[in-house]
Amino acid sequence: MDQMVENLFDGFYKGRKVFITGHTGFKGSWLSILLSRLGADIYGYSLDPPTKPSLYELAGVDSLLSSTIGDIRDYGLLLNTLKEVKPEVIIHMAAQPLVKESYRNPRETYEINVMGTVNLLDAVRQIHGVRAILNVTSDKCYENKEWHWGYRENEPIGGHDPYSNSKGCSELVTSSFRNSFYNPKNYSNHGVALATGRAGNVLGGGDWAEDRLVPDFIRAIMRGEKLKIRSPYAIRPWQHVLEPLWGYLLLCERLCSRGPDFADAWNFGADDKDSKNVEWITHRICELWGNNAAYEIDKAPQPHEASYLKLDCSKAKTFLGWYPRWNIETTLNMLVKWYKGYQSNTDLRLICLNQIEQYFFGENNQE
Ligand SMILES: NC(=O)c1ccc[n+]([C@@H]2O[C@H](COP(=O)([O-])OP(=O)(O)OC[C@H]3O[C@@H](n4cnc5c(N)ncnc54)[C@H](O)[C@@H]3O)[C@@H](O)[C@H]2O)c1
Repeated sequence: MDQMVENLFDGFYKGRKVFITGHTGFKGSWLSILLSRLGADIYGYSLDPPTKPSLYELAGVDSLLSSTIGDIRDYGLLLNTLKEVKPEVIIHMAAQPLVKESYRNPRETYEINVMGTVNLLDAVRQIHGVRAILNVTSDKCYENKEWHWGYRENEPIGGHDPYSNSKGCSELVTSSFRNSFYNPKNYSNHGVALATGRAGNVLGGGDWAEDRLVPDFIRAIMRGEKLKIRSPYAIRPWQHVLEPLWGYLLLCERLCSRGPDFADAWNFGADDKDSKNVEWITHRICELWGNNAAYEIDKAPQPHEASYLKLDCSKAKTFLGWYPRWNIETTLNMLVKWYKGYQSNTDLRLICLNQIEQYFFGENNQE
């Protein structure tokens, strides 16, 4: 079994230099644990972990990589770090990722999410050897029409609130850099393939962000309180955090091996049947958790958030062979197991590693 994880992606990541921005965050920590199992040579650049507790600290992610604590807005430090590391693959995830925080601090959200992208893409122009860059944006980057169809990659970019819109802007920045500096038509001159990945709301053990459904719920359970849910009827394409991470790694491997053909935008969302509303998810977690889990609907007025959001992932399924391996039931089971493990002081890196094994080789995965 051990051998099998290492051989995923045909061993592509073994010894490969991968530079992750946002490595101290929720997705960055899972990605680092996965990449370390794949034998990659991992470098991280970001601020300190954004939460306390954090998956980064709980799972000892620091020991798996070389970490630089720095601000994505600090162009000089970012450039010097990249010059030193000389990575082959870059996965950009450093961001202010929360909708509510973006209403409180729109200017900072744009500075980090938009200028951070500009800084990174411009810094890559000053170094040699980068072959693949993936900018992780969001399903929220689309102009939301509140319709029932999934958004396709060629639909208009938009975003209502400052977070969603900043991710739309980050998409536009990427598109401009791709046209201007990393144009697939001139690939033989520059050798850089630049893509974006748009994923849905991810769930999984180790998320402790404020104003996100599951972490808020876990905190409420541990305090013996009822969770107050806002927007109970908002539908999201919920997926386990490993789903988009698998997609990002498939895509980066393809960006290296097939360059210009894959330098584009890619959706990695949940299957239609797993797009559930907030109340459904909360209710199901209550059932899986058992005692002490309860919720009520928060009637206070809430800032605008999209109420209907789905992605059409036909492109990733057809050209990358990516598909959601876990349905919503498995996803919720995994996250409840993880937080119960946290409650009982289990080795959390081991839980992540076990879930990675199950994700790729479990018997009940979807085909
Ligand atoms: N979690 C989700 O449901 C979700 C969904 C779609 C897209 N995304 C995107 O995925 C990425 C990772 O999200 P996450 O959930 O892991 O968020 P997170 O808050 O857990 O992690 C964010 C990371 O960015 C770093 N960071 C923040 N500001 C920074 C700055 N100024 N300079 C350098 N680093 C900075 C943090 O230190 C942390 O490492 C983000 O780009 C986010 O927009 C997340």
